[in-house]
Amino acid sequence: MFDAKTYVKRRELLKKQVPSGLILFLGNEDSPMNYAANTYHFRQDSSFLYFYGLDSPGLAAVIDVEEQKDMLFGNDIGIEDIIWMGYLPTLKERAAKVGVNETAPLKDLEGMLKEAAQKGRPIHFLPPYRAESQMKLLAWLGVPPQESKSKSSPELIKAVVAQRSVKSEEEIAQIEIALKTSYKMYITAMHMAQPGIYEKDIAGRIDGIAMADGGATAFPTILTINGQILHNHDHGNLLEKGRLLVVDAGAESPLHYASDITRTIPVGGKFSAKQKEIYEIVLAGHESAIKGIKPGIMYKDVHLQTAKVIASGLKSAGLMKGDVEEAVSQGAHALFFPHGLGHMLGLDVHDMENLGESYVGYDHTVNRSDQFGLAYLRLAKELRPNYVLTVEPGIYFIPALIDTWKKEKKCLPFIAYDKLEAYRDFGGIRIEDNILVTKDGSRVLGRLIPKKAAKVEQAATL
Ligand code: GLY
Ligand code: MN
Ligand code: MN
Repeated sequence: MFDAKTYVKRRELLKKQVPSGLILFLGNEDSPMNYAANTYHFRQDSSFLYFYGLDSPGLAAVIDVEEQKDMLFGNDIGIEDIIWMGYLPTLKERAAKVGVNETAPLKDLEGMLKEAAQKGRPIHFLPPYRAESQMKLLAWLGVPPQESKSKSSPELIKAVVAQRSVKSEEEIAQIEIALKTSYKMYITAMHMAQPGIYEKDIAGRIDGIAMADGGATAFPTILTINGQILHNHDHGNLLEKGRLLVVDAGAESPLHYASDITRTIPVGGKFSAKQKEIYEIVLAGHESAIKGIKPGIMYKDVHLQTAKVIASGLKSAGLMKGDVEEAVSQGAHALFFPHGLGHMLGLDVHDMENLGESYVGYDHTVNRSDQFGLAYLRLAKELRPNYVLTVEPGIYFIPALIDTWKKEKKCLPFIAYDKLEAYRDFGGIRIEDNILVTKDGSRVLGRLIPKKAAKVEQAATL
């Protein structure tokens, strides 16, 4: 974990943003797969990690804003636990590592919360996303699960989002550690992307690289020759020459910061002319987005600018037509690029998504669009220095979407529907990198993973 001072400073800052009452942070619990002792890989809650750094189940924490108290709740382990799980420092020792002086057994927390509630003091908590946390809120605060989101604290959410959005140097260094793992994962995936290999052969190998580096994957790996299915988690297909392999994968650093990269690889190491034409359009959109990123710009505008690059490329390829500005303003490009340009990245791959996209990606200056495609943009607001985000444009040929739009005669002046028939089995292309917003521009984090078509081909050639 980071030095205790980091966590103390983070909590001090937080305390100043929340006017009164108690701030309650719930750590995550072990989650059983099929019986209690057979658990999924433990993942601590990211906000708990951010403010308390402690990476084990069974913890909760309270900050009493008026009384300036900072308390950690949990139970010390007994001999039974030591036999099965090994030694764990005492709660006091663990608390000291993150600068918390007061500790108490978990059973005392309920009384403390109930007493505060009786006095009418506000108890701030973040929206829970796990059933165990919802159960605690029900038992301790009487908040029914279906209301646990609406009863969470906007003041706390806003304060946490403001802090977690701006990455410190030590956090950026963690993301770069995760990206070192990503580099190895992608060089391996490119090398392995040969005819006769199964998707699962590569997925298993690259997930193993993340594990071998001491972490885990940051999200379930997407590795598919059906890249047109955006979050395809099936790994059963055999790779054949002529197909494109989309690999969207991430690793976690030891402190759980994520990387999130996508590359699209021609199976066997050679793009066809048709594939290369579309690849170059996606790459042009990707590069123009990175160039456009700087403090003060709205990410929605970067998204729209990228959409124009993509629409203009598709027009040159004969797949779109008409006025590019008009096509993008009517959302015609979304037939091919139906998702947002990117999202914040940090302790979560979609950073802070559980706190609500309207807080993380939007603010009073920008409303969420209801236009197909643009509506899925996770990050739209003005960028600030030390935000870390992804740039991940794509072009996909989704037969069901093409058929639906064609039937509805949607965006007829802008789409060359007759030309799309020849692309029904094309799949998709996405290129994703992780970007730091600097004082006056942006920096691509991590070592360059082959991205130009010729470099990808080279890395994918045996
Ligand atoms: N890995 C999902 C995404 O790129 O957002
Ligand atoms: Mn991704
Ligand atoms: Mn992403």
